[in-house]
Amino acid sequence: MSITIKTGADIDGMRLAGRLAGEVLDYLTPFVKPGVTTEELDKLAHDYMVNVQGCIPAPLNYAPGGHKPYPKSICASVNHQICHGIPNDRPLKNGDIVNLDITTIKDGWHGDSSRMFIAGEGSIAAKRLCKITYEAMWHGIAKVKPGARLGDIGHAIQTFVENQGFSVVREYCGHGIGRGFHEEPQVLHYGRPGTLEEIKPGMIFTIEPMVNAGKRDIKALGDGWTIVTKDHSLSAQWEHTILVTETGYEVLTLSAGSPPLPDFMLADKTASA
Ligand code: MF3
Ligand code: CO
Ligand code: CO
Repeated sequence: MSITIKTGADIDGMRLAGRLAGEVLDYLTPFVKPGVTTEELDKLAHDYMVNVQGCIPAPLNYAPGGHKPYPKSICASVNHQICHGIPNDRPLKNGDIVNLDITTIKDGWHGDSSRMFIAGEGSIAAKRLCKITYEAMWHGIAKVKPGARLGDIGHAIQTFVENQGFSVVREYCGHGIGRGFHEEPQVLHYGRPGTLEEIKPGMIFTIEPMVNAGKRDIKALGDGWTIVTKDHSLSAQWEHTILVTETGYEVLTLSAGSPPLPDFMLADKTASA
């Protein structure tokens, strides 16, 4: 397989799938409070996707090579869990941070987005990690335009994160997306400017940095999916699905409830949306 270029109706399909993923996150937002379980959030999201949006939740039974089928409809990664946390029956506690990662399939097209949430009142450290990770994602997005290279995205994210004293997870990355959940190319969240694949109009890929408050090392739990920080430090992640346009980019997973862009993006002129 190689990188697919999306045109016309493909892009319309991806716009819809993307917006719907964002709208699942909007829908879940008021439910993320101390006392709720991630299994309850999974059920809410599943029913909303299937019954209201007419979507298929892409994670459910997803079984890429070497993995057992993923058992739930969303990923919910709490505190030191980096990604692929499996929803369970433990209630969130005041101050917990949780990443909810939603992937819709609508008319065969995938939309993939995740946000951080804080149950109740978070610590200053937790709030700072979530904010820096959000800004890191946008530093990556800001690099997207024809003629730039994937290494420009990774470099922007890595330098920003490391300057804040945090670390970037290396083992998981963004990805091409379309009819497939995970397509080429891989979008690394670290790297060197001017390296790797040239960015071209019609490419669609995710940018989804995972940022640890401590060291970057990871550990896989025995459930076959959950990835945690080896040093048990907090970890955060944000994700958008991005279309490369003729002049820059369009964020496909924005929705009415998306958080405002960071201040440094407000002057950005490359966005075509
Ligand atoms: N949504 C994740 C991503 O951003 C992938 C989750 S795979 C699952 O790529 F099976 F764990 F859901
Ligand atoms: Co993704
Ligand atoms: Co995702």
